[in-house]
Amino acid sequence: MKALILSGGKGTRLRPLTYTGAKQLVPVANKPILWYGIESLVAAGITEIGIVVSPETGPEIELKTGPGDRFGASITYIHQQSPDGLAHAVKIAQPFLGDSPFVMYLGDNLIQDQLLEFVLDFQKKPLSAIIMLKQVKNPTAFGVAQISPTGSVINLVEKPKNPPSNLALVGVYLFSAAIHDAIAQIRPSARGELEITDAIQQLITNKQAVEAKELSGWWLDTGKKDDLLEANRIILDEYLTEPQILGDVKEGSKISGRVVVGKGSQLINCTVRGPVIIGENCVLENCFVGSYTSIANDVTMSDIEIDHSVVLKGANISGIQRRIVDSLVGERAKLTVTNHRPKALRFMIGDDSTIELT
Ligand code: DAU
Repeated sequence: MKALILSGGKGTRLRPLTYTGAKQLVPVANKPILWYGIESLVAAGITEIGIVVSPETGPEIELKTGPGDRFGASITYIHQQSPDGLAHAVKIAQPFLGDSPFVMYLGDNLIQDQLLEFVLDFQKKPLSAIIMLKQVKNPTAFGVAQISPTGSVINLVEKPKNPPSNLALVGVYLFSAAIHDAIAQIRPSARGELEITDAIQQLITNKQAVEAKELSGWWLDTGKKDDLLEANRIILDEYLTEPQILGDVKEGSKISGRVVVGKGSQLINCTVRGPVIIGENCVLENCFVGSYTSIANDVTMSDIEIDHSVVLKGANISGIQRRIVDSLVGERAKLTVTNHRPKALRFMIGDDSTIELT
């Protein structure tokens, strides 16, 4: 079994949070969302992984993610020149995939459910595809499935105006080599893309066996939901299981709960209540850091209180007299108060911004 992760696309950044072309690299709990997907594939025993990248996303993804040894995998980068659709990405990956069955994983998606049980099930049965479904409130933003009372897939439609159900197609699929023939039979959709949803519908039309599974755990689509704080909360809860203090927590600081402090970081007179992750080479002085906060590497903070927030690499925050809550602070953003008494502060601050409250 191989895996194909789709991390190409238009390279539209998650404005204004980051300048990066690759939404798949946006950090959740200080780790790119894409890496959770790789780790979950490796945990299911799949180590031959192809990653589809675009001219915009490729250089950064290849540089940061590397050849795969850090994950115990072997990664082949596959270059898609333009974002012509998810099924197009599979088409250009065919030399890598050969006749092997594979898991297709959208690089901005993450599921809680263990992949292994799906992989084992797929290997046991003569299936052409397993699709995963999850009930959503806004089905028009997704591929949507219509399921019969006995659980078989009647029909699939991509981003329908009038959804036949509230069951969205999750961005994780298992395919046999039959998908390549189905892709060869479809035409680009109205939006000009070769849709994987149409290819799976083609499998059904061809009387191939397609099984649907409704996920029991959470599903994050960070590319779409733009709900990084929620993803951050879920991932900190799930993945941060034990405290780990590698940095220097000076006297006068109080740390409780599941807190990670990275190498080279210094905490001076701070209170931190987990789950919290603080990256490497940060300096925090006279700060309160509340639950569900992720602070990336090289961040400097002084005389502030922050809670349920995400602060990206190299940001600098000081002297804010009100507690900062539910906030996203972009890379290298500067946030300082020179003159004060604001009532409340709620921020969405992009990379390289400077904000002075005077
Ligand atoms: O997230 C689940 C949804 O993903 C499904 O419900 C939909 O049926 C499916 O079509 C897909 O919809 P999106 O609109 O969210 O797909 P998006 O364009 O965001 O692309 C998903 C990932 O695939 C993303 O990491 C970029 C990558 N991609 C996308 C295209 C269009 C490629 O690598 N190549 C491409 O040509």
